Amino acid sequence: LTHKKSSKKSSNTVPVLWKCSMCTFDNHETMVYCEMCGVFRESFVKSGKDVSIKVESVNGISNNSGTSALSNSDSTKMPAKTSTTNFDGDSERKYASTSHDKVNSTQLASVGSSSSTGKKKQPVIFDNNVPIERTTQLNADHFQLKEDQGSSRASSSAQNKGSMETLSSDISQLSIERNNVNVAQPLPEEYKPEGWMLADQESGVLSQLNLAIVGHVDSGKSTLSGRLLHLLGKISKRDMHKNEKEAKEKGKGSFAYAWAMDESTEERARGITMTVAVAYLETKKYRVVLLDSPGHKDFVPNLISGATQADAAILVVDASTGSFESGMDGEGGKSVGQTKEHAQLIRSFGVEQLIVAVNKMDAIGYSKDRLEFIKVRLGSFLRSCNFRDSAVTWIPLSAVENQNLIKSPSDARFTSWYQGSCLLDAIDSLQLPSRDVSKPLILPICDVIKSQSTGQLAAFGKLETGAIRNGSKVLVLPCEEVATVKTIERDSSSCSIARAGDNVAVILQGIDGSRIIPGGILCHPGFPVPVANYLELKIRVLDIAIPILIGYQVEFHIHHVKEAARVTKIVALLDKTGKPSKTAPRFLKSKQNAVVQVTLDQAVCVEEFSKCRALGRAFLRSSGSTIAVGIVTKIMRQDQH
Ligand code: GTP
Ligand code: MG
Repeated sequence: LTHKKSSKKSSNTVPVLWKCSMCTFDNHETMVYCEMCGVFRESFVKSGKDVSIKVESVNGISNNSGTSALSNSDSTKMPAKTSTTNFDGDSERKYASTSHDKVNSTQLASVGSSSSTGKKKQPVIFDNNVPIERTTQLNADHFQLKEDQGSSRASSSAQNKGSMETLSSDISQLSIERNNVNVAQPLPEEYKPEGWMLADQESGVLSQLNLAIVGHVDSGKSTLSGRLLHLLGKISKRDMHKNEKEAKEKGKGSFAYAWAMDESTEERARGITMTVAVAYLETKKYRVVLLDSPGHKDFVPNLISGATQADAAILVVDASTGSFESGMDGEGGKSVGQTKEHAQLIRSFGVEQLIVAVNKMDAIGYSKDRLEFIKVRLGSFLRSCNFRDSAVTWIPLSAVENQNLIKSPSDARFTSWYQGSCLLDAIDSLQLPSRDVSKPLILPICDVIKSQSTGQLAAFGKLETGAIRNGSKVLVLPCEEVATVKTIERDSSSCSIARAGDNVAVILQGIDGSRIIPGGILCHPGFPVPVANYLELKIRVLDIAIPILIGYQVEFHIHHVKEAARVTKIVALLDKTGKPSKTAPRFLKSKQNAVVQVTLDQAVCVEEFSKCRALGRAFLRSSGSTIAVGIVTKIMRQDQH
């Protein structure tokens, strides 16, 4: 069932039948409105205006790109204007004071071999045997608003906890007012990808699949990830033995596999994941980059930073009595658990394919009835988040008892009723999303590591578009300096080319180390990403207790950056069809869709969603809860604000 296609075919894209002319999202043919921004396909056809969507035209966007109604966008000017976009050249200092969320990208080479040191200090060995060390340390303070902002919002904290209920249709319910949005413009004519960028996969090389592991705290994400690595021979016997021994000594025997992912002393002591751990494994079809996320609600910002890179996700749920329920409804059934919050968030990142790993089946005697109950409850919730039934695969398993992970289960209580796929087969059945190699390079930096001996730096991250190879010149943002790619590393071995979709470490030369920062971008020198702090967004307000007024302080999250911001203008409310209200409301409340303007304390690398989804998806958080999700529709200059 799962290996029908050759690995070449594996790079096929998910079937795409129409592309939204507003936000460029690729929609399934059954959708009558854009899943991402909510614009109706029909309405444009009927309106007979310049935006013509043809069902058969995947590239319909290019027909519309000259649309005059939209040509008032600033965006056409943005690339050339980087240096004037509210970015005063004082970038380094400004960024140094900005809180960036960091993902600890642990090289597999170090997994399990560092039990006493913790992964942040763990030297990562590159090919040339140069030990390198992270320059960035994860600090819980990074995820706190500055004191004054935090306290001004403190009162909303408790009430906001459960406010994610209706992210259900999240961005899909957002509609876009035509005049405010920049339809994807054609790329400037002069950009022509070079031959090597587009070259087909080298034969025998597996495609890279970035897979986020998400789910409620303690559902078993790290145990599952560690167990998979172990079963696939990625953890040596010695390291596994060491983990088992040390976990036992510390009275945490059940966490032995999780420790392969949770390497820091604090994570191990608390028995929770705090940062996103990155590990690599191979299936028949893919080189999988596992992004094991924290489930604890305090670390949702880390999850956002890590899981934005995902092509697909495994949502781990704890099947045991009471635990599945808290994952759905929070402790005491009164709020929203992270099973729901994570599902909503990853869907709004654009993740369409989901494997639901129903874990801890051993704890419920491999009960089929319990699985069916979970499927019904969670299934209807996932549907409300716009996950298509056909894109959701349910895999019951037990990470601890190794049932149904890389082969069919063996426990008679399980085999008596289960004939479906195992987890590994389900991973191989995932489809790769399309990769934009023909656009200029964009690589958002999620982490930076530094060579101890030579001072060489590696920027970690996933190429969203374009390609690089050794010797490529890249523009480093926000510092606006050009550097040269010296080496590219994938899973701690060097490779000559990285293309869109690849998660790599890039060692740069010709730049001072302090200029490369998480939250920055590597891009094509001729096509810089805007750096801005005045933005217009379409947002979907989640369940909030305190209305959003002008002046509201928020944490603004976008790709790997978090920045303090203020809502400076409420432009309009949007109705279900995306029509803006004639008058602007004074405040926003739960479940409303709106156009707002925000001012960030410091400029960040950002792009309009229509041009680059990964750089145009934003999340507004306050007092530890996500209060709104949205997309960037306009990058403004100060005088437009
Ligand atoms: P966070 O990262 O902190 O959100 O937790 P997590 O989802 O990574 O969970 P973790 O892997 O740390 O496991 C939490 C607890 O659940 C540990 O005690 C595990 O031994 C236990 N656990 C994990 N998988 C299973 C399972 O299949 N069956 C049983 N009975 N327990 C399990
Ligand atoms: Mg964990």
